[in-house]
Amino acid sequence: LRRISIDTDSHKSEILIGENWKEFTNLAKGKQVVILTDENLLHFYGNEFGNIPCISLAPGENSKKLVTIDLIAKRLLELGIDRNGFLIGIGGGVVCDIAGFVASVYMRGIHFGFVSTSLLSQVDASVGGKNGVNSGSVKNILGTFNQPDFVICDQSMLKTLPEEEYLSGLAELIKHGIICDEELFTIIERNTGLIRSRDQDFLTDLVSRSVEIKAAVVREDEKETGKRMILNFGHTFGHAIEAHNGMKHGFAVAAGMIIAADISVEYGILERNERERISNLLEESGLIMPYKITTPRFQELISSDKKKSGDSVNFVLIEKIGKSVVKKIAVPVLIESYKSIYSIS
Ligand SMILES: NC(=O)c1ccc[n+]([C@@H]2O[C@H](COP(=O)([O-])OP(=O)(O)OC[C@H]3O[C@@H](n4cnc5c(N)ncnc54)[C@H](O)[C@@H]3O)[C@@H](O)[C@H]2O)c1
Repeated sequence: LRRISIDTDSHKSEILIGENWKEFTNLAKGKQVVILTDENLLHFYGNEFGNIPCISLAPGENSKKLVTIDLIAKRLLELGIDRNGFLIGIGGGVVCDIAGFVASVYMRGIHFGFVSTSLLSQVDASVGGKNGVNSGSVKNILGTFNQPDFVICDQSMLKTLPEEEYLSGLAELIKHGIICDEELFTIIERNTGLIRSRDQDFLTDLVSRSVEIKAAVVREDEKETGKRMILNFGHTFGHAIEAHNGMKHGFAVAAGMIIAADISVEYGILERNERERISNLLEESGLIMPYKITTPRFQELISSDKKKSGDSVNFVLIEKIGKSVVKKIAVPVLIESYKSIYSIS
């Protein structure tokens, strides 16, 4: 069991990695606990929820919308939940993002925690205090920064995760190595067998290391005005690919990371052999998928990215594996680099 704390100005939050997920009942003792989950998690783990009231959502991104928040609020009211309530989100990033948002606004805020069940949410979504829902096609546009009291990341739950969801999380894990921790990257490179077999102890080590990286970044910059931007490595092009091709997040980020690495080579700050190491690991991990998107569409989607500032994006480049740097680049300039690297007229 590893404990990592995130103490920000507003809150103290504890992440428990390798903890038994059922421990949440002890951690929320004395409160009126309600579980928020989705139908898949309910299927695998619901018979162990005991008599704790449970609200279950349809799985998937489509549940991340304002009407869901309203429905959950109505259910919480029916259940008689007041400000002594405690909402526990048991699920992947979708459930955690929704749980964090509802708990932040229901009665102006009740306590909440997560049992984080997907690899993506264990290494990324449930750490850092961002929550929210989508509006139309704009992702995560309504939300707050608010830390949960605790996050339990139980790697035994990853056994039931579908393969493509598992790989999608692996991309974020690899990203953390690329931007901050060369050793983490090397450990992943050397142990692809243990990763494939989802070895529980090995995954506890990897998730801990990855959470430590994200936690350190968040402690320094909770509201994403500086350092936290490095977490967006691969996401500028990745989000566009995800939106246009409907590809799973991690696969799109993998494609975006290769483009960002190529741009780093083009800027003369990254050695080509480091770029090859990145693409080899992504390839070997099964994260390289074909996608089709035109350059004007890239430009359009990147220009509408909500993380843009003015006409520019804070683009994350890498100097070597384990070291990243943020550079403000005008969108048309970025698109020109992309065209020149891939010889697109
Ligand atoms: N708040 C943040 O900082 C942050 C960061 C990254 C991503 N996100 C958000 O996270 C979401 C993606 O998260 P995700 O990939 O976990 O998606 P998800 O929550 O939809 O989970 C993926 C699928 O796996 C299933 N699942 C999850 N855990 C399982 C398990 N242990 N066994 C069996 N099935 C399981 C779910 O039911 C779902 O069908 C996106 O909405 C994204 O915006 C948030």
